[in-house]
Amino acid sequence: MHKILVTGGAGYIGSHTVVELINSGFEVVIVDNFSNSSPNSIDGIEAITGVRPKLYEADCSDATAMERLFSAEGNILGVIHFAALKAVGESVDKPLDYYRNNLLSTINMMQMLKEFGGKYMVFSSSCTVYGQPDVLPVTESTPRKPAMSPYGNTKRVGEDIIQDTVNSEKGIYAISLRYFNPIGAHPSALIGELPLGKPDNLVPFITQTAAGIREKLQIFGGDYDSPDGTAIRDYFHVVDLARAHVLALKRMIDGKCKGNYEVFNVGAGRGITVLEIVKTFERVTGVKINYEIVGRRAGDIEKVWADTTLAEKELGWSTESTLEESLLTAWNWERRLRKI
Ligand code: UFG
Repeated sequence: MHKILVTGGAGYIGSHTVVELINSGFEVVIVDNFSNSSPNSIDGIEAITGVRPKLYEADCSDATAMERLFSAEGNILGVIHFAALKAVGESVDKPLDYYRNNLLSTINMMQMLKEFGGKYMVFSSSCTVYGQPDVLPVTESTPRKPAMSPYGNTKRVGEDIIQDTVNSEKGIYAISLRYFNPIGAHPSALIGELPLGKPDNLVPFITQTAAGIREKLQIFGGDYDSPDGTAIRDYFHVVDLARAHVLALKRMIDGKCKGNYEVFNVGAGRGITVLEIVKTFERVTGVKINYEIVGRRAGDIEKVWADTTLAEKELGWSTESTLEESLLTAWNWERRLRKI
């Protein structure tokens, strides 16, 4: 059985990916420092798959701890690297924390692959590397733009660190997945997104408003160049994103890569406005959302969505869940969490 280390495997996207990896026959080892996740997600993974993955509670930016982990495990074939700080606004206030944590973690993972004979890396990148693109939808060859935040810069530089390392090291392969906006939860409602405190992201804010935890959703910006004036993103289901990681890993293991480093956009390939998300949520759940349209949020781009042709052709990946299913699973998860 191939042994894969999943950093941040207790987190939102990480936990869903661990489930898909286990269901595809991989042996999974998780490392997580629980800075933005809960050990409960390990219980959820076990309840879904019947397998409790081995867990190390450690910080990936701690080189000594990573040396210990890799030498204890011995035969880690590949790493799926999610562990990172991810709040855009916070990164502006605490840039050194973001650079230290996100970049050192990535450097350590590449170093460990080299030192311990690992071969494969799947990196959690983001459409943030495109900034506000001049042409939509964005393809993988759309130029990257200077990052809008220290967080975004860690994704851009993280990609570069990985690409430069695999270029210098013949036996290592890497794929960066540039995520658009993953939403929703596992259909079992046993794992899902668990933001600490007030959510930054749209869908958790909507589900918490629906659950009565937040009084009102503020929609940031009603004067964008879009059909209803609200901003456009490419929302898609987190389980579909999790499957993309398994396909990326298999592509490398099966020797199908074109070169040592590849990049794929992962999104639904269509743009949806914030208001459309709110209306669709209301329609599929029957719950009304109290909302108001306020000023734009600093640092937000107006619109972005993916061209996913490359992922379809090369990874054999496309979304399977609809927007409606994605929003319904997000709501089912919130309801289970709050016992509604
Ligand atoms: N939004 C609201 N109200 C809220 C929260 C969000 O109107 O309470 C709006 C935002 O202004 C934006 C849209 O909903 O127009 C989506 O916002 P999210 O915060 O959910 O997602 P972003 O596209 O802003 O951010 C996501 C990831 C970041 C990443 C960024 C760019 O969460 O980690 O994409 O890649 F940096």
